[in-house]
Amino acid sequence: MKKVALVTGGAVRIGKQISLNLAQKGYDIALHYNSSRKEALATRKQILKTGSRCELFHCDLSSTEDARELVPKVMKSFNGLCVLVNNASIFENVRFGDVTPEFLEKDMAINFKAPFFLSQSFSTAVDKGLIINFLDTRVKKNSVEHFCYNLSKKSLYHLTKMLARELAPDFRVNAVCPGPILAPHGFGEDYLLEMARRTPLKQPGSVEYIINAFNYFLENDYVTGECLFVDGGKSLT
Ligand SMILES: NC(=O)c1ccc[n+]([C@@H]2O[C@H](COP(=O)([O-])OP(=O)(O)OC[C@H]3O[C@@H](n4cnc5c(N)ncnc54)[C@H](OP(=O)(O)O)[C@@H]3O)[C@@H](O)[C@H]2O)c1
Repeated sequence: MKKVALVTGGAVRIGKQISLNLAQKGYDIALHYNSSRKEALATRKQILKTGSRCELFHCDLSSTEDARELVPKVMKSFNGLCVLVNNASIFENVRFGDVTPEFLEKDMAINFKAPFFLSQSFSTAVDKGLIINFLDTRVKKNSVEHFCYNLSKKSLYHLTKMLARELAPDFRVNAVCPGPILAPHGFGEDYLLEMARRTPLKQPGSVEYIINAFNYFLENDYVTGECLFVDGGKSLT
């Protein structure tokens, strides 16, 4: 039976490269997307060329109810699900004073509650597996920009550690914490270079470094509860 990975936000950017990397390693891919249908179809085409199977699953993860149905839908299409990648996320810069209840709810729903309930349904549906969460180098600091984003990723950081205990020995739970890798939506290279200038290594990373960190977790059966910072040293400053 082929191994299957569910990747949230797998159509574009880092999620796309993670999906392609898994396909090249022989995994079939349950590729989740929300608004990027066209890109999801294009990524699927690339995955099929590796010889792996790929099915697309649409879900708006701001609905916790819909998020809870995602793993059962994947289970209907695939046997062999064993990897869950919580990559989907929103990144908006709202200061504490401007946060509305709706905004907080949306941020927490997509960035924290969705990974929470996906992990719950994944660990209930299958006997053994690996969960890899995508955090942010900011989780180590008390950065108050992107207030809700940072709070949601800090929550996911602690969830990673707690689930590593709760779900052992059958599941490993780890996280990658990227620094400046790709410019956020709506920002250019200048933004990324400015962010990178403030890191000890003084240059932006690339998705390749993220894939390396991801593969370390994929291949190291003795590691759980770890959060690997791939950030040019940003979390040290
Ligand atoms: N890029 C970086 O340098 C960087 C730095 C630090 C941390 N990270 C973390 O690394 C991960 C990947 O980064 P990225 O920049 O590649 O991410 P991204 O492009 O900002 O977002 C990834 C995906 O999240 C999905 N998403 C957003 N809202 C959603 C919703 N309501 N329902 C379902 N899916 C939704 C989107 O899917 P659709 O496109 O299909 O809507 C999007 O493609 C994220 O968790 C991010 O926080 C990245």
